[in-house]
Amino acid sequence: MAKLKIAVLISGRGSNLQALIDACRDADYPAEIGLVLSNVGAAAGLERAREADIPTAVIGHKDFEDRKGFEDALLGELGRAGVGLVCLAGFMRLLSEHFLRPWHNRVVNIHPSLLPSFEGVHVHERVIESGARLSGCTVHIVRPAMDSGPIIIQAAVPVHPGDSPETLAARVLEQEHRIYPMAVRYIAESRLRIVAERVIIDGASAPDAALCNPSS
Ligand code: GRF
Repeated sequence: MAKLKIAVLISGRGSNLQALIDACRDADYPAEIGLVLSNVGAAAGLERAREADIPTAVIGHKDFEDRKGFEDALLGELGRAGVGLVCLAGFMRLLSEHFLRPWHNRVVNIHPSLLPSFEGVHVHERVIESGARLSGCTVHIVRPAMDSGPIIIQAAVPVHPGDSPETLAARVLEQEHRIYPMAVRYIAESRLRIVAERVIIDGASAPDAALCNPSS
């Protein structure tokens, strides 16, 4: 079966991009990365893409007068790349209805909390501050409101007493790298359906589809 060609949109470090690059190295993995696109020319993730011989593009949001101009440039680049799925991986721009409409249900994001709790930025600081005992990460279909949309897969991790934002972030990140390739696999295998804004994953067992509960 033909592999699903994906684009990965980044703004920085690109460790989730790396997890997807690594997953795609497996001949049996049903997706391949056709483009890595960044809104930041200095994003370290671009180097990871180059090392893996993946085409890259930089579209700086500051080069455009408004969001629509920026999004039109993104849409053009994605159209030319011939990809079927857009994976946001630390992409620090909100995408509006204008961008999302033509890509309905074909844009996914990873967020370092158990959504719908703790959307937005400074997540780990806020989780620790709240006294929550569990945190985690979420891969979801993207809707226009920040960090919203049908949830595909989540992984939970404990919040340890004495955790700093950095130690918690590292524990969560390890799970991000595990579940993002899983979510892309479900989509590439056409096993994912969205019914009434809920994700149904055909053929997945409940622990597989609903909650990855790691031992860490
Ligand atoms: C990750 O924590 C991701 O969940 C969030 O931004 C961070 C990006 O990290 N959206 P990286 O660039 O993938 O290393």
